[in-house]
Amino acid sequence: QAGRQFVGAGREVARRCFSSAAEAPERKVAVLGAAGGIGQTLSLLMKMSPSVTKLSLYDIVNTPGVAADCSHVNTGAQVTGHVGADQLDDALKGCDVVVIPAGVPRKPGMTRDDLFAINAGIVAGLVDGVARNCPEALITMISNPVNSTVPIAAEVLKKHGVYNPKKLFGVTTLDVVRAKTFYAEKNGLDVNTVDVPVVGGHAGITILPLFSQATPSAQMDQETIEALTVRTQNGGTEVVEAKAGKGSATLSMAYAGALFADAALRGLNGVQDVVECTYVESSVTDVPFFSSKVKLGPEGVSEIYGLGDLTDYEKDALDKMMPELQASIDKGIDFVKNM
Ligand code: NAI
Repeated sequence: QAGRQFVGAGREVARRCFSSAAEAPERKVAVLGAAGGIGQTLSLLMKMSPSVTKLSLYDIVNTPGVAADCSHVNTGAQVTGHVGADQLDDALKGCDVVVIPAGVPRKPGMTRDDLFAINAGIVAGLVDGVARNCPEALITMISNPVNSTVPIAAEVLKKHGVYNPKKLFGVTTLDVVRAKTFYAEKNGLDVNTVDVPVVGGHAGITILPLFSQATPSAQMDQETIEALTVRTQNGGTEVVEAKAGKGSATLSMAYAGALFADAALRGLNGVQDVVECTYVESSVTDVPFFSSKVKLGPEGVSEIYGLGDLTDYEKDALDKMMPELQASIDKGIDFVKNM
């Protein structure tokens, strides 16, 4: 009885988190870095998504085991495992969405930019595979530093002549997930009813939650707004320190990554009014890549929304992040130019 209740609860979570499969087309999703801390849980969540018909799990190690394990879950998606560079092409052929959580995570004391030296090359290699095998796929980039890995991906795709800015996304959903949780907790609201836009990028001061636009609106004094802003910006570091050298956010990131992938799939499938904050090529500010609310559609990005009315505090924070964001973007572009 308890077991049945648990499975029922699991289905209910899946129903709430994921789109309905009713009349949805067949969709193949690849997870690159599927054997990692994020990758394994994300693979399970994608296996539970009714929108996924084929799930391709790729890593340089351990994917046969992860794929065998995941394949026993009694949901519709067919799972295949691919290990090592010579199996990357097979993993990617025919994909509609490619989710990339490959690469090293932070340890205490590290910034996301400290990961650049290793992750830039990993991401460039994987996106090269996407360009060769499924250039039409939507790419959702989780690997850090996202502020640089998304421009890296854009440059690699350009080299192959297949870059479509509507199809490349930096996943900032975890910042939104955190901002919603902290805002609901602080104001005694039901977290299921809460929305908080988060704009900018995905590192330190480039993460800017717009609490002035949070719904339902709650009265917060300036001190509380600043404390919640800093907590959202440092949410990743909070987890890195609590894990004390054993990695960064994996469970909450897998959840956020699955939410975003599912939103991308719903958009592809023609579901109306799918809107998420995500880091894309953008003309909303002076920097070429920026995260704001984006409507997702059959082509990927269908509309990028502006920032709306900002408070003086938010305007100031926006000005302050610009040099760091631009530098991270330039670093990514230069990396590919010098490859
Ligand atoms: P992890 O070390 O547990 O897993 C990474 C996986 O990537 C490993 O299985 C590894 O074998 C694989 N990998 C390495 N090189 C590869 C290659 N060339 N091709 C395919 N797979 C490869 O790390 P974790 O915790 O899963 O984090 C992954 C990335 O996600 C990190 O860069 C981390 O900073 C980032 N991250 C991003 C967040 C976001 O909000 N966007 C939040 C949390 C983490």
